[in-house]
Amino acid sequence: MFDIHTHILPQLDDGSGSWKETMDMIRDGIKDGIKGAVCTSHVFKVLNKELEEQYILRFNELKKRVRQENIKFRLWLGSEININAKFDLKFSIATYNDNKKYMLLELPMSDYPHHVDELLFQLSLQGITPILAHPERNTVIMQKPEIVENFIERDVLIQVNSGSITGIFGRRVRKITLDFINKGFVHFVASDCHNYGNRPMLLSKAYKVVQNICGKQRAELLFSINPSRVILGESIDSYMKGGITSNKGWQQYLHSIVKRVKKGG
Ligand SMILES: [Fe+2]
Repeated sequence: MFDIHTHILPQLDDGSGSWKETMDMIRDGIKDGIKGAVCTSHVFKVLNKELEEQYILRFNELKKRVRQENIKFRLWLGSEININAKFDLKFSIATYNDNKKYMLLELPMSDYPHHVDELLFQLSLQGITPILAHPERNTVIMQKPEIVENFIERDVLIQVNSGSITGIFGRRVRKITLDFINKGFVHFVASDCHNYGNRPMLLSKAYKVVQNICGKQRAELLFSINPSRVILGESIDSYMKGGITSNKGWQQYLHSIVKRVKKGG
């Protein structure tokens, strides 16, 4: 499993509060079966050179510490950009692993800004595929879940939180999330971890729930394959078009992509 939404870089946002907490979160993730993560600290208001430099510095320090402690865990850099924030795609942290293809966008928790459609259109003109972070937690979408279907029709990809599946945000969020998964509206599950205590880097419990409902291949797709493709900057739907039907073919495919993401990126 690879976690494409985390707040493990310390003291940059409302995520990890210290290097100790960051390392504890990573150790937790490794025990849970997570092989690597993308650091996606918040961009609340503006993404500028100063912020980019700050995030890169902190990220490089994390990589150094992980190496020094001989921890086997892959790390990549990106960010989680609020849909109301000012940003420019020239900044390396605007897209995953600076791939100029995928970016993580967040809606406000209780609002659905009018300029969303225009923004998505502008991004698509620039070849960017937006990944919408945890729409199941937005109160407007909770009232009108069909909004998510409209997003998918416009080639927006959907990420839900592992905690939404396991129920840490309540029964209603859990129900909506499972409904999205059942309808095939979800492309990724990520932890959106914020701390060591109640928002940890854990995915395996949610993986088991998805596996029980939709089978192992679907779970692998949402927790490993699609996240790997985002990190590598590869197309998400090519697997679907690839027509992998046999179990052997699937195993070979899974093995090859996990090997590539561990090596490269
Ligand atoms: Fe987040």
